[in-house]
Amino acid sequence: MPKPELIDRYNRRLTYLRISITDRCNLRCLYCVPRDAIPKLRHTEVLRYEEILRLIRIGVCLGISKIRITGGEPLVRKGFDAFLSELNQIEGLADLSLTTNGVLLEDHIEKIRFAGIRRINVSLDTLNRKKYEQITGHDSFEKVWKGIRLAQDMGFDPIKINVVALNGINDDDLADLAELTFSYPFHIRFIEYMPIGNACLTCNRHLPADEIKTRIRCLGNLTPVKKEAYDGPADRYQLEGAKGEIGFISAISQHFCHRCNRLRLTASGHLRPCLLSDFQVDLKGPLRKGCLDSELVNLFLKTAHCKPYQHGLSMEHPTGVSGQMHAIGG
Ligand code: 5AD
Ligand code: SF4
Repeated sequence: MPKPELIDRYNRRLTYLRISITDRCNLRCLYCVPRDAIPKLRHTEVLRYEEILRLIRIGVCLGISKIRITGGEPLVRKGFDAFLSELNQIEGLADLSLTTNGVLLEDHIEKIRFAGIRRINVSLDTLNRKKYEQITGHDSFEKVWKGIRLAQDMGFDPIKINVVALNGINDDDLADLAELTFSYPFHIRFIEYMPIGNACLTCNRHLPADEIKTRIRCLGNLTPVKKEAYDGPADRYQLEGAKGEIGFISAISQHFCHRCNRLRLTASGHLRPCLLSDFQVDLKGPLRKGCLDSELVNLFLKTAHCKPYQHGLSMEHPTGVSGQMHAIGG
């Protein structure tokens, strides 16, 4: 019998699993966390590391080759370093990376490196300390910047910096962020704001990728960079004479659903075929009832089968996703 693979109804091969290891976070970014207090998962509701590792091994047998660890903020969960080390030893994984808000990066960078991670994404939406506090609710810009610089000194490569572009909030900081690529080999990735869950922002904060390009045009021409294996959805460019790169993730204005290869495992143990749809399949329930690997394989296949062709989210029709970003993992 041929080995089952995660291929959806539209013939997309799903090889990339994003895993949220916690719904908790030490920041409260405007675009992510709702204004009202939201219930946190109880500890028993969060998948244990050994449960996540079992699911990953099954995913790898089904063709998953790329994994990103996210949160909430993954570095706030105890024992993340031992988990990363185990994860790094799983055979068949070609690409393992971590997304963090960077606040605890300086404290933990050695452990992250020791665990075998070399690729990190750090969220940083402005280089202005006051603005950083306005966006994230915490005065932690200096800590994050130090963490990024330390990661660079320690040879992490590439270091991607995620910038959610917000009209009227950080649109006048975008050029400064892009300018970093002249001095540092960072990959700055401008992400269109997606109205997910009930975060504090209204849709008029959305800034399409074309507008973002206009804001950074003053820095020179953007030359497209050739696509590589394991490339994400970003359209990649370089400014003339720059050490780093600039990418645009235009999930709304020019969605890339047709080439989406992702599944997401939430901290609560649900597998989601699409970030922008509430459909999810419970893996934790069966897992804790002692099910066989073959049953979990079937649940993976079922989730892949249910992957929608594309999301229906637009700025004209922004509703539809009630799951919270910090719990799904972005
Ligand atoms: N829209 C776009 N990007 C978001 N992120 C979090 N919430 C949103 C949103 N509503 C991004 C953050 C983080 C990544 C995991 O997801 O920039 O870096
Ligand atoms: Fe935390 Fe990331 Fe959400 Fe900001 S975007 S609140 S850092 S999970």
